Amino acid sequence: MATHQHFNPAHIVATHDVADGIRLFDIRPDDGLQAHAPGSHIDVEVLVEDRPQYRSFSLIGDAAEAGAYRIAVKDRPDGHGGSRYLWSLEPGDRLRISDPKDRFPLSYRAPKVVLIAGGIGITPLYGMARALVQSAHDVRLLYTARTREEMAFVDELAAELGDRLELYVTGEGQRLDPAAVIQDLHPEAELYICGPQSLREAFLSVWLEQNRPAERFRFETFASSGRLPDTPFDVRVANRDLEFTVARDQSLLDALQAHGVNDVLYDCEHGECGLCTIDVVEHSGELDHRDVFYSPRQKAAGTRMCACVSRVHDGHIVIDTSRHAVDTGHPD
Ligand code: FES
Repeated sequence: MATHQHFNPAHIVATHDVADGIRLFDIRPDDGLQAHAPGSHIDVEVLVEDRPQYRSFSLIGDAAEAGAYRIAVKDRPDGHGGSRYLWSLEPGDRLRISDPKDRFPLSYRAPKVVLIAGGIGITPLYGMARALVQSAHDVRLLYTARTREEMAFVDELAAELGDRLELYVTGEGQRLDPAAVIQDLHPEAELYICGPQSLREAFLSVWLEQNRPAERFRFETFASSGRLPDTPFDVRVANRDLEFTVARDQSLLDALQAHGVNDVLYDCEHGECGLCTIDVVEHSGELDHRDVFYSPRQKAAGTRMCACVSRVHDGHIVIDTSRHAVDTGHPD
């Protein structure tokens, strides 16, 4: 997450537990709330081992209606420490947040919209579902989680959506089938998805197999979680006389910048835009591609990677940052 943006002083107004392991935080900035679109998020400064780090959270509902920016934070005791820090905060505590940003815009142009939420991925889709219902759009929300107790906002969503809300509780054997969801969709339908990488990739692969337009498959990728756990890994930058270790809670892009390598371009820092792609010369261990920019075939080739999110698991990597290729991501 970039540290070059402006963060505003704010305080926690209230907290509420809304599901097992999910807590709502109402946050009010000192300089007032800004209007935002459904699907927008804010970045929040968290302290991990007394050092500032940055996390993105979708805004739940409308801030003007709530009188605060409302975010939902999943407790992750085994995570990198950001959620533990936020869960330690109480009403009145101070923190710093960014202005709302809309990187997951809702187009309103499609005759039919399907929203797919996996776990805490419900957060950006909650406001989208309400906005689509209120503007009389044809929308379905499919929400999956391991248990019912881990599902947030179900009553509110059921009141708005009725039978257009479908719950899939995997712990009860209910599974979302991407082919069944996508096959009969209107050709100009749009799909918005937020959830684990495996869920997103399963839907994306069926979407592309059916020759549907990539731009009508819309996704949000906050967690940047991969197939494999985060481990530290050693890096050699072949085009420079430079070796260093990427810490478990650090991205390769951040480590490059910390070591003065500023020739890697970047923008989204969420594995979407493809600007930060670099050459992989060799590696040991497993490459864990966490972007949504490259296709499965490109990822399997293992010759390029997105430095902002992708990692090596249990190994080392030799990279070259000198080639500024303009890559083309999926579909392929
Ligand atoms: S900065 Fe956009 S994919 Fe890495």
